[in-house]
Amino acid sequence: MTPNKEERLGNIIDGKFLAEKKREEISQQAGAFLKKYGRQPGLAVVLVGQDPASAIYVRNKKRACEQTGIASFDYHLDETVSQQEILSLIDDLNARAEVDGILVQLPLPSHLVEEEILVRIDPGKDVDGFHPYNLGRLLMGEPTLVPCTPTGIMYMLDEYGVDIDGKDAIIIGRSNIVGKPMAILLMMRHATITICHSHTKDLPERVRSADIVVAATGRPHMVKGDWIKDGAVVIDVGISRTDAGLVGDVEFEEAKKHARLITPVPGGVGPMTITMLLDNTLLAARTHVS
Ligand code: GUN
Repeated sequence: MTPNKEERLGNIIDGKFLAEKKREEISQQAGAFLKKYGRQPGLAVVLVGQDPASAIYVRNKKRACEQTGIASFDYHLDETVSQQEILSLIDDLNARAEVDGILVQLPLPSHLVEEEILVRIDPGKDVDGFHPYNLGRLLMGEPTLVPCTPTGIMYMLDEYGVDIDGKDAIIIGRSNIVGKPMAILLMMRHATITICHSHTKDLPERVRSADIVVAATGRPHMVKGDWIKDGAVVIDVGISRTDAGLVGDVEFEEAKKHARLITPVPGGVGPMTITMLLDNTLLAARTHVS
């Protein structure tokens, strides 16, 4: 169903509405899973230290699990935990049958070696999609568990009926978590991709020619509204706390005048990311029982 939200919200993509809709679906599927296999799909969340933003993310993930009938197992470790202790915990979680997904909240304190921790997670339980195996599968065009923010964006584009085939898409930001997987997913759907970053020349000109703009830099309002081509679709992944409140990477008010569709911040991409984490947990759970 394409949400007929355009009448109520103009050209604003309603991420909260879409997230709710998808969560209802997940909730039904988690219920069916429980009935068939006698247990809920399970997600283990590992949080290290006291970073306030991470604590909020983790709380929201836990709440979303409760809402949809996914069991959550929480591990809150002290800031001073050793690399070896975390690796042992991952080994335990890899071995536990009731744990289908493992998420280690990032960023980690600087004494911990993130890459070593992420590759220790069983790729079949890597619901963040950050393991090199899963990223490699995506690159080969055979995706398994895919990072949640880009899959959430694809879901939103599809729900709003955005035609991707043959379109010029620009992605600003080249992270492993958003920019790179986003580029692959759009390319798999036959868009022509430009990935931009801090060394890119003529960014405004490149944005002006794009049909689809994905901004994922974490720099508040760095994409100016008048760069947006009339009729373009704008996806704003950034969320920064400023004196003016939470703002995205795009100058929303001005961009909204040009865009055919645009995501707000907050209430756009954010709610979809956690939703796709639940979906990945369900996907992983199905592979563990089959
Ligand atoms: N920190 C901020 N976003 C994320 C995410 O999507 N996954 C994990 N593991 N940590 C994060």
